[in-house]
Amino acid sequence: MQVLERETEIDALAAIVERGTGGAGGLALIEGPAGIGKSALLECAADAAGAQGMTVAPARAGELERDLPWGIVRELFLHVLSRRSAKEREKLFEGAAVRARAVLYGGGREDEPGGEALAGSLHGLYWLTVSLSQQAPLLVAVDDAQWADTSSLRWIAHLARRIDDLPVVLVLTVRPGEPESSARALAETASRPGAARLRPGPLSQPATKALVAAGLGEPDDEFARACARLTAGNPFYVHELVRELKGAGISPTAGSLPQLERAQPESVAAILRHRLHRLPDSAAAVAGAVAVLGPDATLANAAHLAGVPVEEAATAADALVAADVLRSGLPLEFAHPLVRRVVYSQIPLAERSLTHGRAAGLLREAGAEPASLAVHLLATEPAGDPATVATLERAARDAAARGASDAAATYLRRALAEPAGDAEEPQLLWSLALAEAAVGGPNAVPTFERAIDRAADSRTRARIARDLSRTLRMSGEFPRAAATLEPILAALDPADELSQQVEGELINVAMLSGGAGSETAFARLARFLDPAERERVHDPTLLADLAAAAGVTGQPAALAAELAEKALAAMPAGEAEPSVVAFAAHVLAYCDRFAAARRAADELATHGAASGSLLAYGFAVALRSHVGYREGSLRDAEADARNRLQIARDWPGDPLEPVAFLVDVLVERGQLDEADDLLDPAPLEQHEGRWDALVLSGSRGRLRLAQGDPGAALDDLLGVGEQLVSAGAINPAVMAWRSSAALARHALGERAEALRLATEEVSLARAFGAARALGIALRCRGIVAPAREGLDLLEQSAQVLDGSGARLEHARSLCELGAALRRAGRRGAAAAPLREALDLSARCGAEALAERAREELRAAGARPRRDVLSGRDALTASELRVARMAAGGATNPQIAQSLFVTLRTVETHLTHAYRKLDIRGRTELAGALEREAGVEPTLEPAESHPR
Ligand SMILES: Nc1ncnc2c1ncn2[C@@H]1O[C@H](COP(=O)(O)OP(=O)(O)OP(=O)(O)O)[C@@H](O)[C@H]1O
Ligand SMILES: [Mg+2]
Repeated sequence: MQVLERETEIDALAAIVERGTGGAGGLALIEGPAGIGKSALLECAADAAGAQGMTVAPARAGELERDLPWGIVRELFLHVLSRRSAKEREKLFEGAAVRARAVLYGGGREDEPGGEALAGSLHGLYWLTVSLSQQAPLLVAVDDAQWADTSSLRWIAHLARRIDDLPVVLVLTVRPGEPESSARALAETASRPGAARLRPGPLSQPATKALVAAGLGEPDDEFARACARLTAGNPFYVHELVRELKGAGISPTAGSLPQLERAQPESVAAILRHRLHRLPDSAAAVAGAVAVLGPDATLANAAHLAGVPVEEAATAADALVAADVLRSGLPLEFAHPLVRRVVYSQIPLAERSLTHGRAAGLLREAGAEPASLAVHLLATEPAGDPATVATLERAARDAAARGASDAAATYLRRALAEPAGDAEEPQLLWSLALAEAAVGGPNAVPTFERAIDRAADSRTRARIARDLSRTLRMSGEFPRAAATLEPILAALDPADELSQQVEGELINVAMLSGGAGSETAFARLARFLDPAERERVHDPTLLADLAAAAGVTGQPAALAAELAEKALAAMPAGEAEPSVVAFAAHVLAYCDRFAAARRAADELATHGAASGSLLAYGFAVALRSHVGYREGSLRDAEADARNRLQIARDWPGDPLEPVAFLVDVLVERGQLDEADDLLDPAPLEQHEGRWDALVLSGSRGRLRLAQGDPGAALDDLLGVGEQLVSAGAINPAVMAWRSSAALARHALGERAEALRLATEEVSLARAFGAARALGIALRCRGIVAPAREGLDLLEQSAQVLDGSGARLEHARSLCELGAALRRAGRRGAAAAPLREALDLSARCGAEALAERAREELRAAGARPRRDVLSGRDALTASELRVARMAAGGATNPQIAQSLFVTLRTVETHLTHAYRKLDIRGRTELAGALEREAGVEPTLEPAESHPR
């Protein structure tokens, strides 16, 4: 077929394809009314891509398939994969792409939370796309995207956000004004910067004339003008009109104009209806059956639904092909979606519902998968049929396990409308709430509440309420979660295991609420100070809560650490609940158990990367960053915090804690301006009082102190302190706000107040019994105390920290000690601690402190070791991390997958690293890093990333 007057659009598509083959992916939307020629253009794009050697992955959405889980995604990937050998297919699913397997072939985990399943599926599909595009550039061509299922639309948006870095081109055709929901889903993709939007217009009169000429022979001008007016230049309309006129034997001359005017139909639909009308009855019946069956229109199915013998159906189908209603081939399919719409709309509503019901029955007998039945059941009128409810429920479970919670929710809503029996209703509502929560739907919470309301017994209510609380926790609604759980817990038998789980969840959300919430949480802890009561606890969440509560309220470190270890051990093998690990490992870090904390974080990161769980991975790297900061592994801590912020765009809510962790690290690295830039006051105000907001305010206070603004620092630190103390969170190992505030007061000349704060912190830290906290407190007291006493305290501080594992703080205390000795005129004695401080801080990557130590050494009359600025030092933290992984033998996709970043990010980091290390490539990397490391030995443990 010849495509007329589309040179501009075709050139634009060719350019995008061209860039795509060169590695710079792109995105085009072809928009316009029915019949204007969108699909024709899409085909042009596919031809151009094929000619360039691209792999073409095509899919066409149908009106009936809007609720098929991953319908479009499956169609286009299965199209491509079916052309590969089994061995090649296996290779494509290696690494993170493995999670795409369940999407395409089924068999997902039913016990995985829906949101996780969706994120995992998207992650897997992204990496499958990457793998395919590494073999040959890829064109993804989706026709009629307005009818694509919601899960596939999510994938389209997900891919569109990352497409720039891949040799992948995405072209969609969209008919505006179709379903609202998909219009909204597509809007984000359409508005991406760089997205080309093509809007083919009506054909001109000469083009219309050319089409008429091709069908009817050269028309005279008047006839051609009349055709152009009648069709308004819509190519589909022109083709249909020509076909109609040809059938009626009308010649294209002015003489035929009266006939043309008389035959003038008001619409394309009228032409089509007219054409169908002339066909035999069985043809109309078969067409109707095909319209209902959609993708399942085999000849046998169509014959069955049409109520005619198969031979007769075959003859009817031939007639329909000849009349251009169906395209030739099996399964039966309409020549154009517009034709289907006309046929379908001619079936009376009640009959439609019945026919869909029969179609479902037919497919059930044939053993079709539940989703295929479900799309038909959705089109039936409710009839109180338990079999319908059961099928929809099963389809919903399958869909949810594949991460298609949107479809699951649709099925469950329909099942509830059947209506379901009293016995099934609560369970259906519960599943519906989970599905809605998985995709962040606004109705999840009320649906959970309805499910709780309808549940028959207190145990079921408790289990639903726990899920509700987790949902509220994800969106930061901690107080509401706590309020939900309190009456639920009260109704449970305390001896019931479930009671522990609910209490664990309750204390968790209460603590996260901050303020009065934390207070009630800590009050609950009191009971567990009794060892016998503690013995009874086995639930990992409750144990982690108890550990956190013990740590925060300043119970002895030994107790807090014991509870944290117990929480980690209580998790089933191979499973890692991110919030349990996060709580427990933070507590271990408060208690200076750095190795154990790091191990827990590493395991969670490995688990997250292996299972494609962004949530688990995100928790893990944020956690590891903070542990690294406390230990003094600042380069690693920086890389982890940056990694966490990189993935924040796929994360719900504001990342306050990760920002805090990065600010802390940057202050030590001497990058105060960047730290300042990270601080956005809006989310801090919005979440005021919440735990993570407190953490970030504390970091801001320390930054202000480093910036030389003790007044602003004091505001932040005292504000945080007041809130912490009023909630009972007194432990300085959690946040040493008193000592920082003491330094601020000292700088402001408020000596007595400074001393009081520092003294209080020393005694609290002593009671807790962890070296890092005590060392910090002693140091600050040493700084603010009168000179003689001060020296003594600084010496104690350095001693306490020596061997504690808190290297950064050790270095800081040595530096302060050296400085104080120098000020006391003991320049000779000052040199040794200053040299040690310089060495230690340089190895930690603590640039700010190292600089200070150098200055002090010079002031003490010593000559600081000359710094050899090594190539390795010039690497940023993230570059160093990627370089180390590459040196360890990981491939770029492996590195990108385990860090949840794009391939391009990895490539950029490596290119920079090569340049800074002055090497040509990967093979020289290991040698170069080793050579450079020899200049300044690193203290940081070797990377342990999944390969
Ligand atoms: N530029 C053109 N020149 C000649 N014929 C065309 C042109 N564009 C489309 N056609 C023909 O017009 C008919 C309708 O085009 P097409 O199916 O591409 O429309 P569409 O915009 O995809 O419609 P829908 O929204 O219903 O999917 C097809 O038969 C196609 O071959
Ligand atoms: Mg089309």
